[in-house]
Amino acid sequence: MDILNKIKHDREEEEQLKWEGTFAEYLQIIKERPQVTQTAHSRVYNMIKSYGVSEKAGHRIYHFFGEDIFGLETAIERLVEEYFHPAAKRLDVRKRILLLMGPVSGGKSTIVTMLKEGLERYSRTDEGAVYAIKGCPMHEDPLHLIPAHLRDAFFEQTGIRIEGNLSPLNRMRVEKEYEGRIESVRIERIFLSEDQRVGIGTFSPSDPKSQDIADLTGSIDFSTIAEFGSESDPRAYRFDGELNKANRGLMEFQEMLKSDEKFLWLLLSLTQEGNFKAGRFALISADELIVAHTNEAEYRSFISNQKNEALHSRMIVMPIPYNLRVSEEERIYKKMIEESDMTHVHIAPHALRVAAIFSILTRLKDSKKQGIDRLMKMRLYDGEDVEGYSQVNVKELKHEYSDEGMKGIDPRYVINRISSTIIRKEVPAINALDVLRSLKDGLDHHPSISNEDRDHYLNYISIARKEYDEIAKQEVQKAFVYSYEESAKTLMDNYLDHVEAFCNDHKLKDPLTDEELEPDEKLMRSIEEQIGISENAKKSFREEVLIRISAYARKGKRFDYQSHERLREAIQKKLFADLKDIVKITTTSKTPDESQLKKVNEVISRLIDEYGYNSISANELLRYVGSLLNR
Ligand SMILES: Nc1ncnc2c1ncn2[C@@H]1O[C@H](COP(=O)(O)OP(=O)(O)OP(=O)(O)O)[C@@H](O)[C@H]1O
Ligand SMILES: [Mg+2]
Repeated sequence: MDILNKIKHDREEEEQLKWEGTFAEYLQIIKERPQVTQTAHSRVYNMIKSYGVSEKAGHRIYHFFGEDIFGLETAIERLVEEYFHPAAKRLDVRKRILLLMGPVSGGKSTIVTMLKEGLERYSRTDEGAVYAIKGCPMHEDPLHLIPAHLRDAFFEQTGIRIEGNLSPLNRMRVEKEYEGRIESVRIERIFLSEDQRVGIGTFSPSDPKSQDIADLTGSIDFSTIAEFGSESDPRAYRFDGELNKANRGLMEFQEMLKSDEKFLWLLLSLTQEGNFKAGRFALISADELIVAHTNEAEYRSFISNQKNEALHSRMIVMPIPYNLRVSEEERIYKKMIEESDMTHVHIAPHALRVAAIFSILTRLKDSKKQGIDRLMKMRLYDGEDVEGYSQVNVKELKHEYSDEGMKGIDPRYVINRISSTIIRKEVPAINALDVLRSLKDGLDHHPSISNEDRDHYLNYISIARKEYDEIAKQEVQKAFVYSYEESAKTLMDNYLDHVEAFCNDHKLKDPLTDEELEPDEKLMRSIEEQIGISENAKKSFREEVLIRISAYARKGKRFDYQSHERLREAIQKKLFADLKDIVKITTTSKTPDESQLKKVNEVISRLIDEYGYNSISANELLRYVGSLLNR
């Protein structure tokens, strides 16, 4: 079986990566590859960088996060550049706890999980290799073996700075097992793994009364006290708390702000001083990145408490807002559905997009600029230009609010509604209207939506519905034309011939009879009227189009019907207006005649073959559009 082979292959690969030797031999490795001595923070940063970085519109995009996190490039850029990068350079932010703050189900846990899994993989590569004192429950950094008074000399020789003191347990082992000969201490390569509790840990507070600090720092092993004689013998201590286990890597602290203060103080001394107190021992050095997450309400109540001021100043808070781009939101839903057991369900085209439109509308804030409504803002954010504004304005819009995207509908709500629709509908196919209906019904039961929000949200549902109506109409009308692009192009070429003749005051030639013709005013007006161009404005519109064409020609660019936004709209509307009657009659006729029936079947198969519908959703779409056109 394939999977068995893979398991075997995996084991062999890991076998090959293994390394064990003496401390003296380890120093040789350092000489060749000094990066193996990097700190946990630096390893995280280099891991992120190893996936590639690119520039886009003045922003850096970190590819590592792009695999699972969509639409948060700016927040991620800030996270990397204000935390991971300087922390890797041993700057002061390293001494603070990283706190991701954002709305529910906005991707915080996903980011942390990615970091953990990324580290696991990275520790299996050459650049990300990690070595530790063999047999140490905390996988202690071998360089701690070098006594403090020799470290300056070591730095001069190698340029490597050593932080942290040898732990009590290893100090004792060096004495007892190696008779003080540190060069003989056994060193091994380790592979970070959350499952095996190597270099990756997760702490989640349970009942504050019963939870013991030992969960973080380990505890006395009473069964061995008799053997070693005393509680202060480090061999009688189990270094198996999350902080011990996460040494060299990363520890996630769930629900941090809900946990008891004593846990927080312990963490702060760890991040601040690089060590923590366990049992009756001297301070234990640890090198790990601590990352926690919280939502805005919890965070506000935490900082409003005076008592927490000192704690607060030792955290670095990074906002993780919701994604604000419709197309990225659609990707999020797709991903979540792929990860669920809904994959057998047919989801009609645009269903997720319409849900995304609704979600994004709930998250945006109204612009202070005149003439930009939420829908326009939504389009601009998604990369579309709208009347009077273009992508250059997006930056200004984003600057209007620093906390946009911290509220609104969350992706999990949408997915839950979609799955409840699926359960209720017996056929495994849902369309945009099903989704919208379900989103709407769910608002009544949503725990954190106020009545005021609810009214707004209902309004956004109807905006999303209107958007869908347009999309649905266009889709059907396109499917009615044998080749939509072709027809649009022909119509535009025809229009431009007449416009050119009109502006240059010459005549056209009939291609068949060579007869001279006046420019066809009726044809030109029938297109221009579609977008409300008045008789007075027609001349300047036509001239503007011609200017645009010659500008394109000068730059060597091809002018097609997509090149001029308003002309495109006019052509489209004209095509659809011509079609409207036939679509209307065909889709709503109760007793279709033979040719109508044939047309409907043709359209349905086009919807299925070219547009991603199945027969259920294609029929539903036709019926719906028919009803829209008859209103
Ligand atoms: N920007 C995003 N890109 C990709 N997936 C996202 C994004 N935002 C949310 N998700 C998806 O939504 C779901 C919930 O996300 P996650 O659990 O990471 O959120 P969270 O911020 O930790 O939420 P909570 O506050 O409830 O713990 C996950 O399936 C996640 O993949
Ligand atoms: Mg979470």
